[in-house]
Amino acid sequence: MSQTITAPHAAEPTAPEPVVKIEGITKGFPDRKKGFQPIVGLTDVDIQEGEFITIIGPSGCGKSTILKMIAGLESADEGSIRLAGKPIDAPSRELGIVFQQHVLLPWMSARQNVLFALETDPHNTRSKSQLESLADEYLELVNLSHAADRRPAQLSGGMQQRVGIARAFALEPKVMLLDEPLGALDALTRHELQLQLLELCEQQKRTFIMVTHDVDEALLLSDRILVMGTGPRAQIVHDIAVPFSRPRDVENLEQDPKCHELRGFLLNSLTGH
Ligand SMILES: Nc1ncnc2c1ncn2[C@@H]1O[C@H](COP(=O)(O)OP(=O)(O)OP(=O)(O)O)[C@@H](O)[C@H]1O
Ligand SMILES: [Mg+2]
Repeated sequence: MSQTITAPHAAEPTAPEPVVKIEGITKGFPDRKKGFQPIVGLTDVDIQEGEFITIIGPSGCGKSTILKMIAGLESADEGSIRLAGKPIDAPSRELGIVFQQHVLLPWMSARQNVLFALETDPHNTRSKSQLESLADEYLELVNLSHAADRRPAQLSGGMQQRVGIARAFALEPKVMLLDEPLGALDALTRHELQLQLLELCEQQKRTFIMVTHDVDEALLLSDRILVMGTGPRAQIVHDIAVPFSRPRDVENLEQDPKCHELRGFLLNSLTGH
């Protein structure tokens, strides 16, 4: 009787547990006239600690919905989302959020806005003076030390957005979720803040999941770009590794033929070509 003997496999290196694991989620919303409307189709994504992920896709495909589900603000109809192995079923301080519209308390200065978020964090163990130093540190990181005592009405849109970013970063969450954080800004301020965000994320080594409509912004900042298709039941149609080393330099990137090629590919996939 013959017997097949197979050589033992070399032990495969075990991949680290993803910081965010999205498995088989779907999501839809009820509509009074049309009934249940499916929005996000079956989606699986693993996000490793320290990755900068960008989600791009046509308007209305469900990008913000996915971000809200990761934030614990919406629940998936099917499947699961885990943060470091634990199901996400409610907002958590481990998940920081920056939206397009900064929601600052108008009667407080920039410093007080950041400090208030730190003081009201139920997990805070630091003293008041430590929190004050932390607030100042994060305002300095976004180049706002000079305007720390101004109230939101005395700050430009870009400055207000930087306060929102400083506030979210100061809480030092495990994962930072950014929904078109620079979408409401003029082109020049937006570019300035993109560079600041690039510097911040390279210094901070945190995990980022950002939604943007700007392909160049995605290429500048991301390690991976997830491209969503059109709905209903929109899915991730491309998961693209961005091959540029860090720290990144905008000028080098602009001259890199690989960057042009990827930009072309992304623009084509967004316009359905
Ligand atoms: N709470 C809700 N109730 C009903 N429908 C909703 C709700 N939230 C989102 N939708 C619908 O789900 C779809 C996806 O919305 P979502 O905001 O996720 O899109 P998006 O990809 O972020 O679009 P945009 O690029 O324009 O921001 C839209 O048709 C929207 O109207
Ligand atoms: Mg959106």
